[in-house]
Amino acid sequence: MAAYYPDELIEEVRSRSDIVAVIGSRVKLTKKGANYWACCPFHSEKTPSFSVSQNKQMYYCFGCGAGGNVVTFLMNYESYTFPEALEYLAERAGITLPKREMTGEERSREGLRARLLEINGEAARFYYYQLRQPVGKPGMDYLTRRGLSAETMRRFGLGYAPDEGYYSQVLYRWLHEKGYSDEELRTSGLVRFKEGRGAYDFFRGKVMYPIMDKNSRVIGFGGRVLDGRLPKYMNTAETPLFDKSRNLYGLFAAKLSKRPYLLVMEGYMDVIALHQAGIDCAVASLGTALTEGQARLLKRHTDNIILTYDSDAAGTKAAMHAIPILRAAGFNIRVLDLKPYKDPDELIVHEGAAAYEARIKNAVNFFLYQSDVWKKDFDLTDPAGLTAYFRKLAEELTTFPDELERENYLQAVCERQSIDPSLLRKMMNRIGNRRMSAEPDYGETPDENALATQSGRKKEKDEGLLVAAQMLLNWAACSGASTKRIRALLEEEDMPTETYKDVYRRILSEKEEKGSVLPASILNRYLEDEAQSKEAAAIFSKGFPEDTPAEEKARILTESLRRLRRERLNRELREADSAAKIQQLAKDRQSVYRLTVTAADTEE
Ligand code: GTP
Ligand code: MN
Repeated sequence: MAAYYPDELIEEVRSRSDIVAVIGSRVKLTKKGANYWACCPFHSEKTPSFSVSQNKQMYYCFGCGAGGNVVTFLMNYESYTFPEALEYLAERAGITLPKREMTGEERSREGLRARLLEINGEAARFYYYQLRQPVGKPGMDYLTRRGLSAETMRRFGLGYAPDEGYYSQVLYRWLHEKGYSDEELRTSGLVRFKEGRGAYDFFRGKVMYPIMDKNSRVIGFGGRVLDGRLPKYMNTAETPLFDKSRNLYGLFAAKLSKRPYLLVMEGYMDVIALHQAGIDCAVASLGTALTEGQARLLKRHTDNIILTYDSDAAGTKAAMHAIPILRAAGFNIRVLDLKPYKDPDELIVHEGAAAYEARIKNAVNFFLYQSDVWKKDFDLTDPAGLTAYFRKLAEELTTFPDELERENYLQAVCERQSIDPSLLRKMMNRIGNRRMSAEPDYGETPDENALATQSGRKKEKDEGLLVAAQMLLNWAACSGASTKRIRALLEEEDMPTETYKDVYRRILSEKEEKGSVLPASILNRYLEDEAQSKEAAAIFSKGFPEDTPAEEKARILTESLRRLRRERLNRELREADSAAKIQQLAKDRQSVYRLTVTAADTEE
């Protein structure tokens, strides 16, 4: 955690780690103009939009918005934690880091996590060993019968939990002898304690699937029965180490895949079967519905998801649940059809890897998949049912803010469901108009595709505000204008988001302290929050092309400033609660045109 190291030290390590050298040793960079360029390592693309700036000591991808300084790069590219990235850079730069300072509480929490990691690691070794002993024969027979090779069992660390009956203590004795306390073992979830029963192993007579985080450390287990008994699977309960909503089964292996997509499925066995078949990009959620945390985790590795959930009702429901979450996270989503097989493992077992590859090629866009699923809710033989189905499609289409995208989906869905496109278009307009009159606040005349164009326009407007703020913050950071002059023009309240306000505050205080500002050192502040870190990096990605005349810069900055101020005054006007306040705001509004950035203000 950043808090463990003093800020000056973080900045020293960062400043002695040239970003071009660090990224250049991992990604092939080509110098063009002031910057270095490459195809982005964080999303798949054919033409380079990933830029590295030597001056600013930061990187930014104009395609996917990934960005930050040398520390964030390593955290994302190498999946390092913050301390790991810092330790790596310190060692590389020949700087010795002091032992981290932690509070007592942090120390005991970190201490507990470390102990739990050890316990899980020991348990994994224990189960692994048992599987390969005579006592593990039932487990070995079972896994062999399911077609797994010795190599696959090794790769996924599969094991067996022996069963010595109700009072079974095999694992407990082993771990107890290694010196772990009853309290630690209870917290790990691997051993339970009960009146009259004493300590007993939670997993007994089960095939064991260790669940690893993306750095291949065991954080929990799934255990499967060998016969038809229920429940089929048991998983370790949540512990301070094992958070089901922020991990994915198989990611430790899938993150190494060269494929430009990840396959998301339900079962542990499915993931293992696909990896064994050479389809090395499969991951599964941990026996629960897909979460936003998992979507964020996926986003660090790819922009493209292919859902391959079971083909039964439960799997369909899970896919329909996952789609909006993945959409919100900005993925391209396709859905793979497994029918007539129930799950990915069955398809592989019956038809092999080549058939699976063919299914991947034929995976359909998520909207077409949804249109098939929704269809089942309506009686299409009845004209009213048919109309209701069309209305459902039209309503869903209005959720695509981009007009071109919306039109593409409309065409595709009409073709798939044999619908006349003009019919759907008409319905969409009607829905749009109805929503418009329910929400008169948009304040503009309804037109064709009203709702959708409206939200598109609103988004553009917000984009514009962000760009205006970005231009001004770069000016504040990089120009020679004094902080006094900057403060006189630009106020913190002009900034459109909390992160922007914070960046502005930091620019001013760094400029006051040191006389100049290095964007990369400002970015140090946001290392621990990925969304914030990206937002801050986007700010510094905007600057004027090198040969922009001073007058031109001044004109653009002036426009940006007035625009932000007007927007802010509008906002305050909406929230104003007294006549005096409203009068004051009206007066402020009239003086906005006096805000002017001059050519002299833009000099370096
Ligand atoms: P196999 O029968 O071994 O092929 O299992 P599978 O991998 O095909 O699993 P299935 O599709 O039945 O279930 C998908 C996932 O849901 C499993 O990998 C488990 O994570 C989870 N799961 C399944 N059954 C249970 C259960 O009874 N309890 C719990 N807690 N999780 C389950
Ligand atoms: Mn299965």
